[in-house]
Amino acid sequence: MDYPPNKKPLHFRIGEYSTKVEFPAFEDLLAPPEGVKSLWVFDQNTAPLFSSREKASIILPPGEEAKTMESVEDILTAGIENGLARDGLFIGIGGGVVCDMTAFAASIYMRGSRVILIPTTLLAMTDASLGGKTGVDFRGYKNMAGTFFPAEELRICPDLLSSLPERDYISGLAEVIKHAFLVKSDLFEFLEREREAVLLREPQILGRMIRESIKVKGDFVERDFREQAERAFLNFGHTFGHALESVSGFAGWSHGEAVAWGMDKALKAGVLMGETDPDYARKVSAFLALYGFRLEAPGIDPEALINAMGKDKKKREGKIMFVLQKEYGKTFQSEIPRDILQKVLA
Ligand code: GLY
Repeated sequence: MDYPPNKKPLHFRIGEYSTKVEFPAFEDLLAPPEGVKSLWVFDQNTAPLFSSREKASIILPPGEEAKTMESVEDILTAGIENGLARDGLFIGIGGGVVCDMTAFAASIYMRGSRVILIPTTLLAMTDASLGGKTGVDFRGYKNMAGTFFPAEELRICPDLLSSLPERDYISGLAEVIKHAFLVKSDLFEFLEREREAVLLREPQILGRMIRESIKVKGDFVERDFREQAERAFLNFGHTFGHALESVSGFAGWSHGEAVAWGMDKALKAGVLMGETDPDYARKVSAFLALYGFRLEAPGIDPEALINAMGKDKKKREGKIMFVLQKEYGKTFQSEIPRDILQKVLA
């Protein structure tokens, strides 16, 4: 492979904050920040990855079930017990759950301290850790409480992905692919050309793919940090996808698989509405299928899906706004007429 990994940091100006994205080697991932007290936040999956445990740290239970106010309280308590002041650093090491909660805790600790994130899944590296959306689940609602508080530094090490379960890797890949559809860049062609190497997780290929994907997302959040406009395009495939996740009881479909299915459905709806170029929609279907994504959800009731969409958090003035595309790189938001929804979901 002739892609020398580009390890130069990336810098993003996000609202009044700035985020530096570093690409350190594995052994440098846990380099302690100098001259400031810090608290390391692991979960039970990530704690064993790192052997040097003399640092002030807390280990949370793994998974979405632990994304609670209680976990945030535990992080805040550990912050106090370890003597962090307002300039203290919370350092989250894990997937989206750990990153979201660590950043949330940091954002409210003494009215806002500091946070570094070390994402360990593809989804967290390319999506969750960048852009400052923090939060916890509350009263059964996902990410119901949260803040906008970008990390000052992200440390990305693609080597961590070699041990990620296949399902989680593929789930993250769907968000990378989403970035490729949203913006005309080298990423789409790269993913087409290097499919085998991407699926085999070849380290150099991963390094390049993650870097390009971060650039796309970073550009969106720089332009629209608080999601007043085009940041919402990052929800492409998500209204369909969330509905599928919820109707299938979060079983059988990972988040990314549901989003990939959802992007295909959104484009098919766009074609029926006369908005989306049918050739582009066909190309996307073929691309997703080659990556192994399922584009049909047999046994799922279309009416149940439509009802679940009605509960989507992203409603505006009571309307369900879907992210659609006219063609590659041309994205917009619109309602979808009910009869068209029924057709694409049938
Ligand atoms: N994951 C979508 C966003 O950060 O806006």
